Amino acid sequence: MKTVITYGVFDLFHEGHVNLLRRAKALGDKLIVGVTSNEFTRQRGKLLLADSLDTRMSNVRNCPYVDEVILEDHYGQKLEDVQKYGADVFVAGDDWTGKFDFLTPWCEVVYLPRTPGISSSSLRNSRLPEIRFGVIGNGRIAKRFLKEAKTVRGGVRFRYVYNPNYESAKRFAEGYEKLTAVEDLEEFFRSVDAVYIASPHETHYGYAKAALLHGKHTLCEKPLCFSQKEAEELFSLASENEAVLMEAVKTAYCPGFIKMISIARSGFIGDIVDVESCFTRLTEKGVREWEGEYKGSFTEFGSYTLLPVMKLLGTKDLDVRFESVLDEDGADLYTKAYLSVPGKMGLCKAGLGVKSDGHLLISGTKGYIFAPAPWWKTTRFELHYEDPNATETYESEFLGEGLRYELAEFVERIQGWHDSDYLYTKEETVTAAGIFERFLKYRSEQMR
Ligand code: CTP
Repeated sequence: MKTVITYGVFDLFHEGHVNLLRRAKALGDKLIVGVTSNEFTRQRGKLLLADSLDTRMSNVRNCPYVDEVILEDHYGQKLEDVQKYGADVFVAGDDWTGKFDFLTPWCEVVYLPRTPGISSSSLRNSRLPEIRFGVIGNGRIAKRFLKEAKTVRGGVRFRYVYNPNYESAKRFAEGYEKLTAVEDLEEFFRSVDAVYIASPHETHYGYAKAALLHGKHTLCEKPLCFSQKEAEELFSLASENEAVLMEAVKTAYCPGFIKMISIARSGFIGDIVDVESCFTRLTEKGVREWEGEYKGSFTEFGSYTLLPVMKLLGTKDLDVRFESVLDEDGADLYTKAYLSVPGKMGLCKAGLGVKSDGHLLISGTKGYIFAPAPWWKTTRFELHYEDPNATETYESEFLGEGLRYELAEFVERIQGWHDSDYLYTKEETVTAAGIFERFLKYRSEQMR
């Protein structure tokens, strides 16, 4: 009995897949097919899938050439499976030619010609309605975001850029093939389905409100706004106008961070009692971070540092007090925010003028979780217990600059694939805005 094994994502199961499976089966007596899990597919850079894992596996299982379906969820698994199932032949499409030659000591490796003219990506792109995106503001973050956006696909087309300084928007647009600078904000809103707001902090609320009033899906750079009332108003507008509103707190949408929070919430380290997070980046004076009403360290980094604390302490009855070191202009060089709910506490440290270690430490009644700097780009975290031999390390992919994950989530919600905001909830956004409001009041009192 000759066993053949092959792998794939098999999203939007198509003729190319069937052809490959038919020819694979013809190479032996039994065909085993590994279907890649959602998480592993994402890790390998494909962020949007149209079908659920259940659908993808059922489609493969129902294919008459397939004898057994298995789940593929980690690097190295192909070699493990070849040995475990005693596979005689490993098959892949010829887009993979050479990539699996390392299996030849264990089995024959065959690359079959792909069926021309069809792929899951092309089907996804043609079936998904196009989302015409506009970006407001064209600073550093907008540039990084547009680069990352290319990896998401899913109907995303960045078409327009707006900046009250039209010349600046025009210069920015020149760097991109299909991007046009628009001078008039009304015309800009009329032309797009979704907006990414990457303008200076003090303009976020105004642009977000205008975008939502025009019924546009809105992804706004952090902080969304600086008062609880404004944040609540924006979410009401989003729901009245049937638009998705998301605050772009990058870390919240990254796989490593999501896994770490889920593990912390699942009781591995007992009850959580303390969460400490820190984000510092020494920044010379004379740039945006030191200018305007919302200058300083906490408004710059607080969105990151508050995130794990709110996730693990909750937002209900969250108490907060601050300590800052201010410069002569009233900007905080360094701020500590002390948070608490009954029985739990948190500490957020932010510094543009003070350097510290950017780690995250979650302490519980049975152990602690430690994520080294930069924890906000979580690639690794450790679980420690009283017994030092019991330490466990978790690793996770963090692709590119991580901005692709928030965009992928935004697109999934616009496409209506799910409407849950669990990765960064409305309550968390509103609570963070309220904390910024209290901080600004505290800081201005310090200057009196
Ligand atoms: N395949 C093929 N002919 C095609 C498309 C896919 O032979 N026209 C093969 C791939 O080479 C792979 C298997 O089918 O061995 C599973 O493909 P999958 O991982 O689902 O890839 P694609 O359909 O190419 O999906 P995508 O466009 O998302 O990469």
